[in-house]
Amino acid sequence: MLELKGVSKAFGGLRAVDDVTFSLTRGAITGLIGPNGAGKTTLFNTIAGALAPTSGQILFEGNPIEGKAPYQIYRSGIARTFQIPRPFGALSVLENVMLAPIGQSGERFWNTLIRPGRIRQEEHANRDKAVKILDFLKLTRLADEPARNLSGGQLKLLELGRTLMSDPRLILLDEPGAGVNPTLLGEIIERIVDLNRRGITFLIIEHNMDMVMNLCRPVVVMSGGRLLMQGDPEDVRRDPRVLDAYLGGAA
Ligand SMILES: Nc1ncnc2c1ncn2[C@@H]1O[C@H](COP(=O)(O)OP(=O)(O)O)[C@@H](O)[C@H]1O
Ligand SMILES: [Mg+2]
Repeated sequence: MLELKGVSKAFGGLRAVDDVTFSLTRGAITGLIGPNGAGKTTLFNTIAGALAPTSGQILFEGNPIEGKAPYQIYRSGIARTFQIPRPFGALSVLENVMLAPIGQSGERFWNTLIRPGRIRQEEHANRDKAVKILDFLKLTRLADEPARNLSGGQLKLLELGRTLMSDPRLILLDEPGAGVNPTLLGEIIERIVDLNRRGITFLIIEHNMDMVMNLCRPVVVMSGGRLLMQGDPEDVRRDPRVLDAYLGGAA
């Protein structure tokens, strides 16, 4: 579904992502792990278009997307969350979901001139969709709450909800388990599994190894910008190269 071929991203002399090649299978929940500074978030940013790769190719469903603008990649069917959630704190939870762009025709100049009725209709459709998403995420009772009042885990759910507005086929999650209490973590895992059963493919950066072991297959390991290995979670967990990478990172 997604193919990376020799993807690199340098910041000055630092090769944050260094010649990474791997592919994501449609329907899988792939984990992306590695010590801090391994280049995971930078890799996400190059896939999502926030950064143009220095070299290499990225194909989504067979089409090259490297170097395209974030909105183009988003419209092609890839949505992402951020390691640090970025809600509009003063706006309600429902508004935050509604504001996620869906490429509605109301954004386009011609439609504004020609079909105002259609735009009102789409605003209603937008709200209905956001309401359904909050229901799915069990956030309905918080719909009118300002987003700044949410806990870390609730914010992660809200971020997931925002991605769903665009009906993505691939979702990139950057540390969905970080700062989340165990109860909500279970909720988040259940929702990801449910969405995956409905056909959404996931690539998930995560440090919580329980979550990775439960949820992700295969697991891709990065270290120092490079792809270290890829395999089933059980194999990754006992691979000495992976242990070395983590211990080296901590030293
Ligand atoms: N915008 C940037 N400018 C310069 N260096 C960066 C930038 N973003 C990340 N880096 C560096 O690239 C490396 C990889 O970072 P990152 O992708 O955030 O790693 P990870 O998400 O695996 O912890 C780190 O050394 C980091 O300091
Ligand atoms: Mg990161």
